[in-house]
Amino acid sequence: MIIIIAAVAKNNVIGRGNDLPWHIPEDLKHFQNLTNGKTVLMGSNTFTSIIKRLGKPLPNRKNIVVTSDKNFNVPPGVIVYYSLQDALLALKNQEVWVIGGASIYKQVFPLADKMYITEVDLRPVGDTYFPNISKTEWREISRKQYEGFAFVEYERINKL
Ligand SMILES: NC(=O)c1ccc[n+]([C@@H]2O[C@H](COP(=O)([O-])OP(=O)(O)OC[C@H]3O[C@@H](n4cnc5c(N)ncnc54)[C@H](OP(=O)(O)O)[C@@H]3O)[C@@H](O)[C@H]2O)c1
Repeated sequence: MIIIIAAVAKNNVIGRGNDLPWHIPEDLKHFQNLTNGKTVLMGSNTFTSIIKRLGKPLPNRKNIVVTSDKNFNVPPGVIVYYSLQDALLALKNQEVWVIGGASIYKQVFPLADKMYITEVDLRPVGDTYFPNISKTEWREISRKQYEGFAFVEYERINKL
C-alpha cells in the first residue's frame, strides 16, 4: 500500500528554496496525526529540509530516505536506499507514506493507491510542483473544507 501525503497550492506549487512556501499549523498537525507511527519515505532534499526545521528526523516514525549519494549522512535509525526501486522493493507489502518532495511524488504517482492532499488556497511563487491529479484516475472520497485550505482524500480508480 503506497499512500501519498502532500500540501498542494492552486498552481500545484509544493515548495520554494527547499522549504514550504506557507505556514499552516493545522496542516502540520494533520500531517503529524496521519503519519504518526508509520513508515515515511522521502527524497534527500525533503529529509534535509526536515532536519533544518526540526533538528532531527520525524519523531515516532520510521524515516526512509532515498538518495544517490553514497556518502549521504543520516542520524542513527534513519534508513537510506540508493534507489527508489530498492526502497519500494524492501517495503513491499508494507504501508508506506510518501511525504515528498516533488521528484519522489512524480516517480511514485503512478504506483500510489491513496492520496491525502491538503489543497492550499494560494498561488505562491515556487520551484517545485505536484503532478496534476486526473479525475479519471483518482476519485475524491472525502473533503473537509477550512478557511484557506481543505483536507482531501483520494483513492485510485484503476491501479496501473
Ligand atoms: N508541500 C508538501 O507537501 C511538500 C512535501 C515534501 C516536500 N516539499 C517540498 O518539496 C521540495 C523538495 O522537492 P525536490 O524534488 O527538490 O526533492 P526531493 O524529492 O525531496 O529529493 C530529491 C532527491 O532525492 C533523491 N532521489 C530522487 N529520486 C531518486 C531515485 N530514484 N534514486 C535515488 N535517489 C533519488 C536525489 O537525491 P541526491 O541528489 O542526494 O542523490 C534527489 O536529488 C522542497 O521545497 C520541500 O519543502 C513539499
